[in-house]
Amino acid sequence: MTEESLERVSTDELRHVQLQRLRWSVRHAYEHVEHYRRSFEANGVHPDDLHTIEDLAKFPCLTKHDFRANYPFGLFAVPREQVVRIHASSGTTGKPTVVGYTARDIDMWASLVARSICAAGGRPGHLVHIAYGYGLFTGGLGAHYGAERLGCSVIPMSGGNTERQVQLIRDFRPDIIMVTPSYALNIAEEFARQGLDPRENSLSIGIFGAEPWTEGMRKELESRLGLDALDIYGLSEVLGPGVASECVETKDGPVIWEDHFYPEIIDPQTGAVLPDGQEGELVLTSLTKEALPVIRYRTRDLTRLLPPTARSMRRMAKISGRSDDMMIIRGVNVFPSQIEELVLRIEALAPHYMLELTRERHLDSLTVHVEALGAEHDSEAARCDAATRLAHYVKSYIGVSVCVEVHHPGTIERSSGKAKRLSDKRGL
Ligand code: DLL
Repeated sequence: MTEESLERVSTDELRHVQLQRLRWSVRHAYEHVEHYRRSFEANGVHPDDLHTIEDLAKFPCLTKHDFRANYPFGLFAVPREQVVRIHASSGTTGKPTVVGYTARDIDMWASLVARSICAAGGRPGHLVHIAYGYGLFTGGLGAHYGAERLGCSVIPMSGGNTERQVQLIRDFRPDIIMVTPSYALNIAEEFARQGLDPRENSLSIGIFGAEPWTEGMRKELESRLGLDALDIYGLSEVLGPGVASECVETKDGPVIWEDHFYPEIIDPQTGAVLPDGQEGELVLTSLTKEALPVIRYRTRDLTRLLPPTARSMRRMAKISGRSDDMMIIRGVNVFPSQIEELVLRIEALAPHYMLELTRERHLDSLTVHVEALGAEHDSEAARCDAATRLAHYVKSYIGVSVCVEVHHPGTIERSSGKAKRLSDKRGL
């Protein structure tokens, strides 16, 4: 069966392919990686125990800690000489997470990114501007190989140098941009700063990912840039971009490319597998990866599995947050994405925000820093009004009292890659 035809097979056929591949992947991990052998044995499971896909739940999960404990190449399942590419995540604390790919892994990755671009409406011959960072981060090179594989012409711009981004978009007239949503906004602003209308550009498709973004942000990006905004999901430990991606005809959450990654949702506290539709932590198992098989990797990303629509594979709801990003304010769980939705509802506010956590007398408090949208909303009275409205929205929709500070336009730090939304000053 070809890669393309797998996107549209029946559920039974898909489950059959998945089970065959899962058996191979679990055995491959067990036979070639010391970590898996030990952890399977410690949990009393063996690859022979895998009779149905559901049996996967008996196997132990892999965590970011396991990557660190096996740094740098301890989780590789092939001799290092067969690894043709290494990527690493920056890792805010401690050692970076290192991942490797064989030539066949790179080939599979390129085909999934090509499939993702195609699902977004991209076609051979399209000109693709890639503003994800190139280097150890998987965004730039991942997108690049996929776009080439589809038969597109690629502009490997990488992140940063925003004036130059605008110049190349104006001069080369790309059809597609691949970039983080926060940096796309930054590029749109640079158009406006140069006195240009960002809607008057050549772009018709934006493939945005690498950070959480909301439906409100989709509308904002679509109206500011005049394009279709599609969501692409991935993570270095599992692949990079292209684990899941959205279809332009439905725009209803990324389709998980289930012929290569088997998804489960677990209760983050108990580890129990939850039924489709319930929110929990996404756990991914690679079905075809050679260099670095991941068996039940705990992504920390919170989402739900949704039934298939445009393809035969299940979708994931937009990531509502990472368990690491969850703030607990006076006993209420709060995610940055919930605040984002509310900021975007207020017309007088720009779609840029930063959250500051502080601690006073053992209680966490949250300050939402936002900025006025343009000079017309920048009077003292307008900023005060917007602050009151946002605080009111947060109180009534999320149930917590926060302090809101509305700053002058252009004062919130802009990103050239992943936006930093949270500043944790509790330890200071
Ligand atoms: O961000 C891979 C990537 C590059 C995905 C370009 C899409 C586009 P990491 O740096 O390892 O890899 O970060 C992975 O970013 O666990 C999520 O928390 C978050 N993330 C990635 N894509 C999305 C998305 C890349 N579409 C971490 N929506 C993941 C929400 C996302 N969060």
